Amino acid sequence: MHHKQLSGEVYYPSSEVIERAHIKNWDELNETAKKDYPGFWEKMANELHWFQKWDKVIDDSQKPFYKWFTNAKLNVAYNCLDVHLKTFRRNKLALIWEGENGDLRTYSYHALHREVCKFANVLKSLGVNKGDRVTIYMGRIPEIIMAMLACARIGAIHSVVYGGFSVEALSERIEDSQSKVLIVADGAYQRGKIVPLKQIADEALQRCGTVENVLVVRRTGQQINMEQGRDMWYHELVNLPIANQNCALEIMDAEDPLFILYTSGTTGKPKAILHTQAGYMVGVYTTLKFVFDIHEEDRYWCAADPGWITGHSYIVYGPLLNGATSFLYEGAPNYPYPNRWWQMIEKYGINILYTAPTAIRGLMRFGESWVLRHDLSSLRLLGTVGEPINPEAWRWYYKVVGKEKCPIMDTWWQTETGMFMITPMPSVPLKPGSGTRPFPGIEMDVVDENGNSVKPNEEGYLVIKTPWPAMLRTVYKDPERYVNQYWSRFDGWYLTGDSAKKDEDGYFWIIGRVDDVIKVSGYRLGTAEIESALVSHPAVAEAAAIGLPHEVKGNAIYAYVILRNGFEKSSQLAEELRQHVAHEVGPIAKPEHIEFVDSLPKTRSGKIMRRVLKARALGQDPGNLSTLEE
Ligand code: WTA
Repeated sequence: MHHKQLSGEVYYPSSEVIERAHIKNWDELNETAKKDYPGFWEKMANELHWFQKWDKVIDDSQKPFYKWFTNAKLNVAYNCLDVHLKTFRRNKLALIWEGENGDLRTYSYHALHREVCKFANVLKSLGVNKGDRVTIYMGRIPEIIMAMLACARIGAIHSVVYGGFSVEALSERIEDSQSKVLIVADGAYQRGKIVPLKQIADEALQRCGTVENVLVVRRTGQQINMEQGRDMWYHELVNLPIANQNCALEIMDAEDPLFILYTSGTTGKPKAILHTQAGYMVGVYTTLKFVFDIHEEDRYWCAADPGWITGHSYIVYGPLLNGATSFLYEGAPNYPYPNRWWQMIEKYGINILYTAPTAIRGLMRFGESWVLRHDLSSLRLLGTVGEPINPEAWRWYYKVVGKEKCPIMDTWWQTETGMFMITPMPSVPLKPGSGTRPFPGIEMDVVDENGNSVKPNEEGYLVIKTPWPAMLRTVYKDPERYVNQYWSRFDGWYLTGDSAKKDEDGYFWIIGRVDDVIKVSGYRLGTAEIESALVSHPAVAEAAAIGLPHEVKGNAIYAYVILRNGFEKSSQLAEELRQHVAHEVGPIAKPEHIEFVDSLPKTRSGKIMRRVLKARALGQDPGNLSTLEE
């Protein structure tokens, strides 16, 4: 195919790649989608199963509370599993799982369906009904996927808390969601050690009061505390007659909630992003199909964690809706050696690998010889997500891992968007570090303070101008926050919280967050969470957290702490505070460095000016200081 000449460093797709791609001509698809936007999504929706079809594809009568596929009736889990049972996919592998300790389990669509039905029956026996919230706190094991789908089958709303979070983060999320059941694993293997998930959960449950039952999945088998009447072993319940493999499903309305997922925002507590049934299903199904070009024979590996949105959309729902074979790995990429990932790609013949820049940079550090000793010729497509990828890491991924024949899908999106928003497709020319253009039909822009488009290569606010099917519907129980946070800055446009540039070819380049969110190793954390963990320590009077550039992690957390009277600065205390944050929020939130200070730069109204701290740490000009207190 003939491509327009683009500026800068450009990688054009090979004819083999285009030949095989679902979408051979991106511009054509974009035009079709722009001409009839609802029609485009309607056509995709028609590839899925509905008990009853919709009245309207997009209902914007109560903006920004958009509705999609109004009055349609469906079940997302039915689309993930049951529909495949009537086809040859019944015996196709849905999931291949490898534990960090080498354990191996596989599930065909038939088997996964059976396990999900049994899981759903166990939840029903605990009194879980449609609309109830269920918190899930586990490592990367097949049961986390089963638990999520079991909720979807019976209409319960899952709230997955990433297994790397700890006591306060978990307790806050359980409390806010008012979950009555918690599903937890006894532990998780991580770098040869056990993360004591159940023990962390026990401590979290002492701080919140809504959970009636704890369902415990055995993974590591270490001694744990089981509270009589509250805690039950999953493997015991699932062997009782109540947990048979037939389980009636709930017929859901298009706009019934599917799940909530907590994420860090600009200020205050993490907020629960609400996703609903129909639009989310159509959005993730379509984007995964076109972007990762899912074909029947593919083995697809998204190396994220099911506990984040990437896992929800592109480990659990997207691949199963597409009838794909997914791979899931429990542990660390470099355990026991830095070739673990490459070894598994070779062993299982993985065709598509989707991961984060931080993982690529981390593995790159060990040198290419670890990669080169494995046969990675099965790879056809690569992907990245979570933070901007630096061109150096992009090129390494492209050359050393992909042997210059695998296009890299740099997908920009958010917990809130539910699905890819800025992304290439395999047939699109790539530029290292750019996610290329918005998904067909979706209009996005980079604008200045007043909402005017900025000139090419100038920095501005990244906004989304069209509604999209997998968009968040609200902040759970807090519609006001939904409107204020996302739709008030520029009336009618969705504010992403990112700054970006658009080049002369219309390619988008993400710069980073403009709010108080820090992306550490691709994990989204809020300065507020880290600061409130710090001030919950008796020695701390005040604290401020910022993100500073880090070679592997992208950003690292630096914390500034004012001590209470009677406490002395010491490296010991600094270490104790770091451990305290790890215990309260999670190891991922542990500050890289703690600095004791006597004062913090504040505005006259008392807001900490993190930008001043950041500029100071980087030796840069802090800019306008007119609002500084003194
Ligand atoms: C960042 C993760 C650059 C961005 C799916 C966004 C990215 C935030 C990319 C959302 C990318 C995500 N290039 N930056 N390809 N993908 N981001 O909610 O700052 O955990 O706003 O969702 O990650 O993080 P979240």
